[in-house]
Amino acid sequence: MTDEMPERHPVLQDVELMVGTWAWGDRYIWGFGQEYGREEITAAFEACLENGTTFFDTAEIYGQGKSEQFLGEFIREKPENIRIATKFMPYPWRLRRASLTRALKASLRRLNLARVDLYQIHQPMPPIQPETWMDAMVEALQADLVGAVGVSNYSRDWMDRSQNALARAGYRLASNQVEYSLLNRQIEKNGLLQHCIDQGITVLAYSPLAMGVLTGKYSPEKPVKGIRSAVYNPRLLGRIQPLIQLLNKIGSDHAGKTAAQVALNWVICKGAVPIAGVKTPIHALQNAGALGWRLSDEEIQRLDYVSDKVAKEK
Ligand SMILES: NC(=O)c1ccc[n+]([C@@H]2O[C@H](COP(=O)([O-])OP(=O)(O)OC[C@H]3O[C@@H](n4cnc5c(N)ncnc54)[C@H](OP(=O)(O)O)[C@@H]3O)[C@@H](O)[C@H]2O)c1
Repeated sequence: MTDEMPERHPVLQDVELMVGTWAWGDRYIWGFGQEYGREEITAAFEACLENGTTFFDTAEIYGQGKSEQFLGEFIREKPENIRIATKFMPYPWRLRRASLTRALKASLRRLNLARVDLYQIHQPMPPIQPETWMDAMVEALQADLVGAVGVSNYSRDWMDRSQNALARAGYRLASNQVEYSLLNRQIEKNGLLQHCIDQGITVLAYSPLAMGVLTGKYSPEKPVKGIRSAVYNPRLLGRIQPLIQLLNKIGSDHAGKTAAQVALNWVICKGAVPIAGVKTPIHALQNAGALGWRLSDEEIQRLDYVSDKVAKEK
């Protein structure tokens, strides 16, 4: 980063890694209540506080409100230094600004909070235009119900329009949450990442471990179970093994870092903030090991090269 780069929004200035809580209460995709449950996520939350990763990302739709509810319960017991980002889903039947305010108040009730640190529009949903939701966000900022505003899955055009709408009222857009990992580098290729960096809008990278695949624990012999396997099928798992091997090799050159830690560090080195989803205290502990060190430029180039190569192979 050079001196001329605009600074991040204050809410994200010191944040290098966020904790994703999509799996907290979600049965359908993540299998909550089967291989893990309340006990594991309670311990995961505790582990996050212990290792200082205290900015949690949730959404009203995760587990149909359960993720927010769990966080609300956990926060009640330990209200220290914790920051929360949640999201508004612009369902097609939500047509007016007032629906954002209603949804925000419902999220705050579940979270047991008077104010959320970062409130994000979960995804674009035309025909409702970005300015409608940003006008509602300005009201929420003025009422001190939210500390900062973000968007998610927004194109450059919709993000810029959101930023302009907020600027007209004297506010700025803090973040755009988009998918970004060594297996999905679309925002690098289409220029969105660099544009965000130039504008001081933080890219919050979701699925930075490709839903667990970049940890290296899945392979054609040990495939991903459930709905995730529709994308991360055995054929893809076979194809990406050279990338997993390189992650492991680079990790071992950094005093035994894991593939997951290297994959998260790569996102950080690119100027984004990974949101790593966790189900257990072990995940939380391990992912925090992505912090406090940096890949070299040469290692980043090698990872870029192999990720491009496995992405192209059919
Ligand atoms: N804005 C959006 O549209 C959007 C979309 C998706 C996600 N998100 C956000 O981004 C967060 C992260 O994305 P994600 O959950 O899809 O994917 P991710 O962070 O790429 O992967 C998370 C999964 O990987 C496995 N895992 C994580 N750390 C591990 C470790 N150290 N060792 C072994 N396995 C580990 C766990 O699943 P298994 O143990 O089952 O493999 C975990 O649930 C979400 O929680 C959510 O907050 C936002």
